[in-house]
Amino acid sequence: MKRILSLLVLAGTMSLASYAQELTLEQGKFHAGDDMSWAGVNVDESGWKTLSNMTTWTSQGVKIENGFGWYRYHVTIPKSMLEKSDLKETVDFNMAKIDDADEVYLNGKLIGKTGSFPKDPNGYHSNWNAQRVYSVKANGGLVKWDADNVIAVRCYNAGDPGGMFAGPISVRVPNTIDNLSINIKEGEGSQSVCTLVSKMQSSKSGVFSVKVEDPESGKVLSEKTMKVSVNKAKSRSISLPYDSHQMVRIVSTFTESKTGLSTTTKYIPKYILTPAAPAEPRFNTAPLYGVRPGSPIHFRFGVSGDRPMKITSDDLPKGLAINPDNGALSGSLEKPGSYTFTVKAKNAKGEQEQKFTIRCGSKIGLTPPMGWNSWNCWGLSVTQDKVISSAKALIEKGLADYGYCYMNIDDGWEAKERNADGTIAVNQKFPSMKDLGDWLHSEGLKFGIYSSPGDLTCGGYLGSIDHELQDAESYNSWGIDYLKYDWCGYGRKHRTEPDNQTVASYVRPYLLMERCLRQQPRDIFYSLCQYGMADVWKWGESVDANSWRTTGDITDTWESLYSIGFVQQTELYPYAQPGHWNDPDMLIVGKVGWSNNLRDSRLTPDEQYTHISLWSLLASNMLIGCDIAQMDDFTVALLCNHEVNAVNQDILGKQAKREVLDGSIQIWARPLSDGSYAVGIFNVGTTDARVDFKKYFAQMGISSLKAARDLWRQKDLSTSDVNYFIPTHGVKLLKIRY
Ligand code: GLA
Repeated sequence: MKRILSLLVLAGTMSLASYAQELTLEQGKFHAGDDMSWAGVNVDESGWKTLSNMTTWTSQGVKIENGFGWYRYHVTIPKSMLEKSDLKETVDFNMAKIDDADEVYLNGKLIGKTGSFPKDPNGYHSNWNAQRVYSVKANGGLVKWDADNVIAVRCYNAGDPGGMFAGPISVRVPNTIDNLSINIKEGEGSQSVCTLVSKMQSSKSGVFSVKVEDPESGKVLSEKTMKVSVNKAKSRSISLPYDSHQMVRIVSTFTESKTGLSTTTKYIPKYILTPAAPAEPRFNTAPLYGVRPGSPIHFRFGVSGDRPMKITSDDLPKGLAINPDNGALSGSLEKPGSYTFTVKAKNAKGEQEQKFTIRCGSKIGLTPPMGWNSWNCWGLSVTQDKVISSAKALIEKGLADYGYCYMNIDDGWEAKERNADGTIAVNQKFPSMKDLGDWLHSEGLKFGIYSSPGDLTCGGYLGSIDHELQDAESYNSWGIDYLKYDWCGYGRKHRTEPDNQTVASYVRPYLLMERCLRQQPRDIFYSLCQYGMADVWKWGESVDANSWRTTGDITDTWESLYSIGFVQQTELYPYAQPGHWNDPDMLIVGKVGWSNNLRDSRLTPDEQYTHISLWSLLASNMLIGCDIAQMDDFTVALLCNHEVNAVNQDILGKQAKREVLDGSIQIWARPLSDGSYAVGIFNVGTTDARVDFKKYFAQMGISSLKAARDLWRQKDLSTSDVNYFIPTHGVKLLKIRY
């Protein structure tokens, strides 16, 4: 038997949240199936394979879609680990994460369980994302010091992937300080609330402090210190206010009196850079709109400022009307051509005008679509009420004043079976698509839907196969303005097609639906979703797609954002143009969750600034993926910066190119219609950076910088001092002239 003992971290003098005594294990023995005798000490493991716990069993070639598998680890736990602990109370088994449920046995005895199995009294329950840490008494006789210990892990998985996957796992003998931790939260009124939590029954005392620091200079802006005593039953909190319009770092430390050891937690709270909009009317949206002759227009002029406000025009083209109270433009244009007119917005504080052009021709989607989609928040639990609630909030919170107008239902709206005549039916969560469409249109908003060219959607709902024209007709009758058409179930058909190696076989289902959509007397933005297969960006335009997903699904982590945004888009800039956009997937800011359980996006504030800046530079679809009704001020400000959005909506329609790749510094730039450039200087590294932009001028073809503006802060900057502090995973988004 091979012992796998990868790393022994010896006791140090200080512990900063990492354990003083810890043994890590990356691999164990594995057997599929379920046999309770495998919990024991003496098991013949000769037929067992070696498996890593760093990634799922599925990705290591094990196929158990619904069922059990066992891992066994052998580990010698040195007595010296116990001797070095000031506590000598417990030994903790950190089993990382397990997809989906588990029981863990130490030397034959059950020491912990997370989730539950199908035959358990309350049935199966997955808890794949929980960190498992199971404790046993250090001197209770179960742990064998300086001898072989067997950790046996019984795992149950329902649906791929499965098994232990977030390793390495570890065995720890905690010190006092390891059992104390500090959580930092943002409290009401920009208060940082730091809470010291103990896992121990016995009280420990020491000094608890919190500091608000300027991350750039390290200067302490304010601090507070107090003496506290904590135990398992009694946590202690300390709080300190900070300025939520400035980037600050909260640093909280507890130093335990007896050992002198300390634990520290650092946290950057959400900070708002976008200046508040003026009370006077201000136009925030692109002054250009594309429509096909005869198609109904549903559009809303995006104007911020105090309400009530009247939005009018004296020279509106014939056939069009504006609702002065909400700025909704309706009607249609019969003849192709370019129609320019002046729109006026007036409130108690002032009046503003903007020239606006409607290009009536063959192209729609002249700037990337802005709006909302139900998937990243509600997943398959979307309902008509939830769509309405987000649409109302889109208006009430002012997002509609910044151009967000599409309200798109993703998967989960279809009935189990079609109607007798073959038309698509909705499920009980959607009482009336037509009423929903009419109401959205009355507000100047647009209505989007989702389907698949296959028999089933990704969520297992009905797709459009063999009913494409009927579905397009239903969409027309409901007033649909956007179709996301998701490959998914079509894969099964595609696999059986003799020419499935060819691009033509990927094009076929999308061309078919395009023909059906174009037979409808309305414009339907055609959004392809097939994750970038067969280089869709090279042929998307040929099926009249207005956008095409370029990658797999995004999720709210830095890893996902980094891979999709910074790695997978680098070569795609030549393919974006007005009417045809690369789509790196929907936004992951605000409260997301892909289900009824919503949570704050796991992206840090700087990662969120990076996300919106990059999506603006990439001329991406800007589809909000959170519950707008629950959107906080930070997220509203993040999505409603008219200077940042103007980059995304720039009518030249050129996607940014990565101009500089210098270690963890990346500079992406795109030309804008007014002759200037939008430039994002990103720090994708794990530490804060200082960047002298001048260093890259030659590489970017900048001979002399004539103007520089910080778009997030909406402030002009010096053209000579271009040295910027860019926090880890953060960005400086500029508009420059040279
Ligand atoms: C796929 C898509 C997602 C979403 C789901 C719905 O995964 O890529 O954006 O539409 O299907 O089931």
